[in-house]
Amino acid sequence: MSNHALENAAEALRNARCAIAFTGAGISVESGIPPFRGPGGIWSKYDPELFDKGYFKRHPAEVWPVLRKIFYSGMERVKPNAAHLALAELEAAGRIAAVVTQNVDGLHQKAGSSVVYEYHGALRRMQCMECRAFFDSDGIDLEVLPPPCPACGGLLKPDVVFFNEGVPEDVHRAATDLARRSDCCLVVGTGGQVAPAGRIPILVKNAGGTVIEINRQDSLYTYNTSDYFLEGKAGDMLPRLARAVLEG
Ligand code: APR
Repeated sequence: MSNHALENAAEALRNARCAIAFTGAGISVESGIPPFRGPGGIWSKYDPELFDKGYFKRHPAEVWPVLRKIFYSGMERVKPNAAHLALAELEAAGRIAAVVTQNVDGLHQKAGSSVVYEYHGALRRMQCMECRAFFDSDGIDLEVLPPPCPACGGLLKPDVVFFNEGVPEDVHRAATDLARRSDCCLVVGTGGQVAPAGRIPILVKNAGGTVIEINRQDSLYTYNTSDYFLEGKAGDMLPRLARAVLEG
């Protein structure tokens, strides 16, 4: 990737009136969290059917051990990487207004980002499918699966969006309103294959905004939506872009 593209992308971000970041699993890969698609992806090891809301409700004893293995075991050791930290730095410098993320790992907040819209929920919370109460996942013992609701003994579910489950309406509304008001979107580590979250960069583009994409390979955005494509690992490219923006 030429420095020319990076310089131009930095200029666009510097000149933006209201810029947002839109992130996917690729930004957390260098923190040790596997992506969903592509080599080594979660969907290459586990049947997505397990993550269907109805299937989970019918077979919780089958699905919960998989959830624990993928999402909970060892999560306390996972740290934000240089890409998450670069976004937090850009927010602190007033260069991005918010992060809209599809990720449920909470690494943006751990890196210091304060305005984060979590389109697909967050692993730090669980919700009871019977009494609807919410609980901090840290307080739930995962030795016994499925973990019973502390309030009513019902079935607990991670507060993340499963297949055939709607996205949180309040986040969807706030994120799309913000995208429509933004004139620059920094897209990091997402293939753009999942709606409605995946439409965020397109809303910015349709409103006349500029789209800067960082990905290891081309995505559904690259040839139709992105104005700048910075090919490479998020952990390398984002800090370089942030430095160019902040020192420019
Ligand atoms: N740096 C930058 N991009 C990367 C890196 C990296 N180190 N590693 C992988 N990528 C890119 C891949 O090229 C791909 O475009 O990250 C993207 C990962 O794609 P997915 O695994 O499909 O993740 P995402 O786009 O976030 O998926 C969206 O799909 O299954 C649902 O709910 C799930 O939130 C998820 C949604």
